[in-house]
Amino acid sequence: MTELKTVQFHKPVIRGSIKVPGDKSISHRAIMLGSIAEGKTVVTDFLNGVDCLRTIDIFRQLGVSIDQNGTDVIIESPGMKNWVQPTKDLYAGNSGTTARLMLGILSASKVNSVLTGDESLSGRPMKRVTTPLEKMGACIEGGDFLPLTITGGKLKSLEYNMPVASAQVKSAILFAGLNADGETVVKESAISRDHTERMLKQFGAQIHQDGSTTKIVGGQVLKGTDVTVPGDISSAAFFMVATAMVEGSCCEFKDVGLNPTRIGIIEVLRTMGTKVEIVEQTSDLGEPYGTIRVSQAPLRGMEISGEIIPTLIDELPIIALLATQADGKTIIKDAAELRVKETDRIAAVTSELKKLGAKIEATADGMIIEGPTPLTGGILKSYGDHRLGMMAAIASLITTGPIGIEEHSCISISYPTFFEHLETVALETEEE
Ligand code: S3P
Repeated sequence: MTELKTVQFHKPVIRGSIKVPGDKSISHRAIMLGSIAEGKTVVTDFLNGVDCLRTIDIFRQLGVSIDQNGTDVIIESPGMKNWVQPTKDLYAGNSGTTARLMLGILSASKVNSVLTGDESLSGRPMKRVTTPLEKMGACIEGGDFLPLTITGGKLKSLEYNMPVASAQVKSAILFAGLNADGETVVKESAISRDHTERMLKQFGAQIHQDGSTTKIVGGQVLKGTDVTVPGDISSAAFFMVATAMVEGSCCEFKDVGLNPTRIGIIEVLRTMGTKVEIVEQTSDLGEPYGTIRVSQAPLRGMEISGEIIPTLIDELPIIALLATQADGKTIIKDAAELRVKETDRIAAVTSELKKLGAKIEATADGMIIEGPTPLTGGILKSYGDHRLGMMAAIASLITTGPIGIEEHSCISISYPTFFEHLETVALETEEE
């Protein structure tokens, strides 16, 4: 039987303050770079979610000592040249970031490995990563999908113009380039998240960024360091949108990552009419972070397209829900990448929001939403996709009836404390 969680609120208002869990992209990279580097790395505020735990398991199989206690992680690595041969397949589970970045790392290592994933990940394209890696001399067998067999070895440098704006592809090439002969150059069509570049510098690597071009010279040996992970703005986005939609709401988000390549959601909320203030900001950790305060105000529709898309790609499901409450049309374009996420997010968001009465149509590369529309309750599928599951739960704050969420446990992939935080900030103003 499919697991179902029912969520219902009676005239809620969103109030208070939360500190969302650590950033998923940065947590993966901290484990990866801590394992590539020689010596000790201490990671604080690590995201203790299923995907990031897959990355830890893989490096343990490669002989790296990783002691994880909730959000604290201590890595003691002999350095990647001393990794041991894994004795079984390396399982990436549902995690696209683990799989794609590991392809770059493993190709340039001394070990031979088989990388596998769950059913959803085994249907996601890997050629975007294996094509440039093979140009560097990587030996990867198995085609476009997991499982893939990787024979590690010496790689040569590459100059590569990326056809899709993808931080996963860029990072895989940079990790391979770190161990290749000569200088690897990656040029992006639109700038994607740059956590790999920033963290490589934290670990002592020489890396040069100039606009959409990044260069790295191979043969650099990294030294372990301490990494503090800021809160994940992609997780905060669910409660930022909740605050923006529910009348009378005002909520604060502490220590959230404010990397310019990730904050498209702030621009969208502001353009739609929501008041978003950045109350405090620092960048002493290699990544800017700070406190965000969101206050509800009337919403209007807008067009979301072009260069902003990579900076809010994971927020588009929750933005689609927000758009159902905005006055006028919201057009989302240039987001065909949504079709190859944990599920086809264009098809899934459209079909689930329609069940609640939303006026939403799918296009080849986005969605068109007309608002404002009152939404009813219903039973929504998560498709095993954490961001779809959280979109359904947040919808319950504005629906006239309860929302049932199928396969809700996938939410723990990126936000294990999501339902606790929902209970904390969603205050009911009326008894059942
Ligand atoms: C990620 C990059 C993005 C994003 C994913 C995490 C990363 O994917 O959607 O959730 O950590 O590099 P693409 O690189 O495929 O756009």
